[in-house]
Amino acid sequence: MAALYPYLKLLHIFATIMWVGGGAVIAVLTARMARRAPAATTAAYLGQVAFVGPIFFAPSALLTLVTGVMMVMGAGLSFGTPWVSAGFGGVLLSFLLGGTLLHAAAKRLTALADEGADPAGEPMTAARRRFVTVSTVNLLVLVGAVAAMVLKPA
Ligand code: HEM
Repeated sequence: MAALYPYLKLLHIFATIMWVGGGAVIAVLTARMARRAPAATTAAYLGQVAFVGPIFFAPSALLTLVTGVMMVMGAGLSFGTPWVSAGFGGVLLSFLLGGTLLHAAAKRLTALADEGADPAGEPMTAARRRFVTVSTVNLLVLVGAVAAMVLKPA
């Protein structure tokens, strides 16, 4: 298992890059589309975002979790080590946010775009702001987990 450690770490970091980097790009593009694009374009775009969720984000998050757990077990680290707990906390909080508030905010944007709502109108503006707020919190949680893993403060 010790010989596998560097490869698990490499996989763990690749998975993290896809998860956090991909999430940041999707958040920026979604906010831009909702603000500027005609509703039909936004609706088509959000349909593609819904498609990449299960085939891109779910596997990246799962791979981060699985490789992290394998490294902790393989290296005989304690799951109570603060930076390891921060990793678990980050994964858990992001799953919770993703499954509840972020999902709801994306659904609301999709419903408005499907109805042909005016991008400059009040409902779309409110939905876009909510989506940006929840996405930002979610990304900050993940960036916090990266910082804890890299800096290992305790
Ligand atoms: C189940 C939760 C997690 C566990 C058990 C875990 C475990 C680990 C372990 C054992 C290492 C290797 C540390 C080293 O050899 O120096 C590591 C590195 C790393 N982890 Fe995690 N991790 C978890 C979640 C996360 C999350 C959620 C992220 C980011 C979103 C993340 C980002 C990183 C990064 C960037 C490194 C490289 C740090 C370095 O080499 O200094 N991890 N993780």
